[in-house]
Amino acid sequence: MKASEIRNRFFEFFGEQGHSRVRSASLIPVDDPTLLFINAGMNQFKGIFLEKEQPKHLRVMNSQKCIRVSGKHNDLEEVGYDTYHHTFFEMLGNWSFGDYYKAEAIEWAWELFTDVLGLEKDRLWATVYEDDDEADELWKEVTDITPERVLRFGKKDNFWEMGETGPCGPCSEIHYFVGDDASAQSADGVNTSDQYWELWNLVFIQNNRLSDGTLEDLPKKHVDTGAGLERIAAVMQGKSSNYDTDLFSPIIAAQEKVLSVPYEENLVAHRAIADHVRMLTFSIADGVLPSNEGRGYVARRILRRAARFGRSMGREEPFLAGLVDSVVELMGDAYPEVSDKQAHVKNVIEAEEESFNETLDRGLEQFERIVAELEGKTIPGDSAFKLYDTFGFPLDLTVQMARERQLDVDTDGFDAAMAHQREKGRSEGKFKMDVSELHWTTLSDGDDSQFVGYEESKTEASVRRFHADDDRVVVVLDKTPFYGEQGGQVGDRGTICGDGFEIVVTNTVKEGESHLHIGEWREGDTIALPQVTASIDKNRRGKIRKNHTATHLLHKALKEVLGDHVQQAGSLVHPDYLRFDLTHYQKIRPDELRAIEKMVNEQILLNTELDITVKSFDDAKKEGAEAIFEEKYGDEVRVITIDGFSKELCGGTHVDRTGDIGFFKITEESALAAGVRRIVAVTGQGAVDYVADRFEAVDAVRSLLNCSDAEIAERVEALIDQRKKIEKELKQRRTSDSGDELTSIIGAAREIGGVTVAIDQIQASDGEELKLMGDRLREKLKSGVGVLGAVINDRPSIVCVVTDDLVAEGTKANDLVKTIGSELGGGGGGKAHLAIAGGKDPAKLTEALDKAGEIIAEKLKGDS
Ligand code: SER
Repeated sequence: MKASEIRNRFFEFFGEQGHSRVRSASLIPVDDPTLLFINAGMNQFKGIFLEKEQPKHLRVMNSQKCIRVSGKHNDLEEVGYDTYHHTFFEMLGNWSFGDYYKAEAIEWAWELFTDVLGLEKDRLWATVYEDDDEADELWKEVTDITPERVLRFGKKDNFWEMGETGPCGPCSEIHYFVGDDASAQSADGVNTSDQYWELWNLVFIQNNRLSDGTLEDLPKKHVDTGAGLERIAAVMQGKSSNYDTDLFSPIIAAQEKVLSVPYEENLVAHRAIADHVRMLTFSIADGVLPSNEGRGYVARRILRRAARFGRSMGREEPFLAGLVDSVVELMGDAYPEVSDKQAHVKNVIEAEEESFNETLDRGLEQFERIVAELEGKTIPGDSAFKLYDTFGFPLDLTVQMARERQLDVDTDGFDAAMAHQREKGRSEGKFKMDVSELHWTTLSDGDDSQFVGYEESKTEASVRRFHADDDRVVVVLDKTPFYGEQGGQVGDRGTICGDGFEIVVTNTVKEGESHLHIGEWREGDTIALPQVTASIDKNRRGKIRKNHTATHLLHKALKEVLGDHVQQAGSLVHPDYLRFDLTHYQKIRPDELRAIEKMVNEQILLNTELDITVKSFDDAKKEGAEAIFEEKYGDEVRVITIDGFSKELCGGTHVDRTGDIGFFKITEESALAAGVRRIVAVTGQGAVDYVADRFEAVDAVRSLLNCSDAEIAERVEALIDQRKKIEKELKQRRTSDSGDELTSIIGAAREIGGVTVAIDQIQASDGEELKLMGDRLREKLKSGVGVLGAVINDRPSIVCVVTDDLVAEGTKANDLVKTIGSELGGGGGGKAHLAIAGGKDPAKLTEALDKAGEIIAEKLKGDS
C-alpha cells in the first residue's frame, strides 16, 4: 500500500470516529520559546491541554510535519546508520480534548492496525507504563491481543514528555517485529532490539511538567497519539528499511543519478542525504534560513552534514538543490507549501551549499592534519572548535567524521572553547521574561484577553490576574486594546489605571492567547480591585498602523518589481520604521528601489480603503491571499485586502485608507545572509522628516559648491580629481625639494655619543613616501641615525634609518623603532638599516619624536 493511501485510510478511519481534520502546523513553533522545531503532532495543541485555549473540536486528527534534531527529542546520531530514524518525518495522530480516553484510544489504534491496514497480530506488541493497570487491562479487554504481548516499562519508555516543561503523561506504545523469522520473537527484544519498531505512541496526557521539575495534574484528561508514517509504510510495503519505501526510493534514485554511486555502495551516506534533503526542503519552505543561531543553525548543520556526505562520495560540485524536485514531486500534493516554495528552497540551498563548498576542502585537509597528529583516540575540543570557527564545520559534522575513523571528539572541550569565545564577544545580553517564573495573583475569573484594539484605544476592563516584583508588573485583563507583539508587529504601550494605582505599560507580549501587559508602577504598588481603564498610546499605535500597512504594500511591490521568487523572510513593524527581509539573490539596484518606492507611493496616493474581513483559511488561500512564514493560522483568518494590489493574511493593526500612510521612503538596503536582503523604510511624518534632513544636507553641500542639484555629483567628482592631482604634484615637489629639506634636517642634527642623530617631522602623503624620505636621509647622512615622523591619513608614522657603518657596530633601526613605536602606542618593524612604526593617535607623534633622541642615546650607550 502506498504511503499516500495509508495517510488517507488513517483519516477515513478517524473521520468515521468523529474526528475533524486540522492542518499540519508550520515546523516553526509560534509563541513557544521552549521549542526550536515542531517535534510532535501535539505541539499545536499545547495551549488546549494547559487550558489557555479553547478547542474548536473535541476530537481532531492530522498528519504533522516533525523535526527531531534538538532538545529532548534528537535522533540525528541514528540517522543514516539505521533504517528507521529521521530528522524529519510525518506523524499521523488523533486527539481527544477531555473527551474519550484510554479505552477508545487503544481500541481504535488496534482496529486501524489490524483490521484496516491488516498488520499481522502476531508481530505486534503493546507496552504500558509500569503503574498503569488501567491501560494494561484495557488492552486485554477491548482488543484481541494475546495477553502475553502486553508489557510494562518504566518512565524512560512509557512516560512521554514533549520537552523540559509542558503537558505530558503515561503512554502506551505499539511495536512491530520486523525480523524475517516471526518465530524468533520474544518479550526481551521490545525496546532493546532494532528488530522491534515502535510504530504508534498513545499518550494519556494528564500532567504538566513545571520548570522546577514538579508534575501537576491537568484539570482534564486528554489523548494524544502519534504514529510514524514512514515506519508504517515500510511495514506495509514489506520493507525492513524506511528508505526502501515509496517515500524515499525516488529521492535515492535521484541521488544515485547525480552522485553516480549506487545506493548499495554507500548506504549510510545515501540515507543521510535523502533524510536531510527532506528536512531542508520542509524547514526552508516553512521559513527557516540557514544562519548561525537557533533553528537557522540546525538547518545549516544538516545541510553541511549532507554536503560532506556528498563529498565523501566524490562529488565536488553542489548537488543538494537538485534533489529538491524529487522531494516536491513526492510530497507536494500532501503539503502544497513545498510546491509553492520550490524555487525559493532551491535557491536557499544552492547559495548555502556554494558558500560551504568554499571552505569544505580546506576544512577536510585540516581534519586530516588533526587526525595525523593525533595521539590517542580523542580529537581535542579546541581542534574541533577551530574546524567550527574557521572552516564552518558544525560539531556534529566533526563528530560524524571522527566516528567514521573510530575516533571520539572532546565535546566538553569544544563547549568550553565556544563558551570562552562567547564570553569574549559577549555584548549586552537581552533581558527576556520567563513566563513560568511569574507568580500570579488572581482578581477575577473567566476568559481573558479579548482583543478590542482593532476598534478601540481605551477600554474599561477587569484585571484577571497580575504579577508584581521589584522590577516590573505584569497584568492580564479580561479584554484589552493592547496589541501583543506578534507577526512582526511590536506590542503596544500605554497605561492601566485603577483604584490607587497607575501602571505605565512598556510592552505587551502574547503567551498563548493571553496578552501580558508588562510595565512599571507610576503610582501605587498593588492592585486591590479588578476594575481598570486600559489605554494605549494612540499616537504610537498610529505610527505602527502606517508602518504595517506600508509593509504589505512593500511586500507586493517587491514581488512586482523583482519577481515572484521574493518571499518574506521576516519583518518588524515598529513605530519609527519598518524592516522587511526578503529572499533575493543580488543587491537591489537603485533603479529597482526607486521603482518599488514609486509603486508604494502610487498606492498611497490612490487612497484605497482597506478591506478587512475574517474568512476561512481555505477561502482566503483560494482568493490568492499571501500567507506569511512563521505565522500560525487558525481555521478563520483575517484577510487584509488593498483592492487591486495586495491581499495578505494578517492579524495586525492597519490604517483605514492607504492615504493615511502619507508618504513612504526606503532608507536602507543591505545584505542579511546568503540570498536574503533587508530593507528599512519610514512612513508618514517620519518619512517627511527623513527627506527634509536629506534635503538640508544636500542644500549645505550645494551652497558650498555654489551650484544646482543636478551639478553636485559632477562638481564633487571634479573636486576629488583635482585633489588627487594636487596631492600628486605636491608629492613630486616634496621629493624633488627633499634635498633642501633633508639638508636642513641634517643641519639641525645633534651629536649623541659621537653619532649624528637627525630627527624631524615632515609631510608625507603615504608610507611609501615616508620610506623614500628615510632612504634619502640615510644616504645624505653618510654616518648617523635618522628618525622622520609624519601624520598620514590621520595616523602617526615614523621611519628610522641607520647607516651601514653603525649597523655593523650593532645599532639596528628595527630595534629602535620598537621602542619609539611604543611611544606612539603601536608597533613597528623592518630591517636593521630601515624600519617603520605606526600608531593611532596623531597627537602622540611630537612626543615620540621628542623622546626618540633619548631612546637612541640609551641604545648607543648600551652598544658602546
Ligand atoms: N506526542 C507523542 C509522540 O510524539 C504522541 O503523539 O510520540
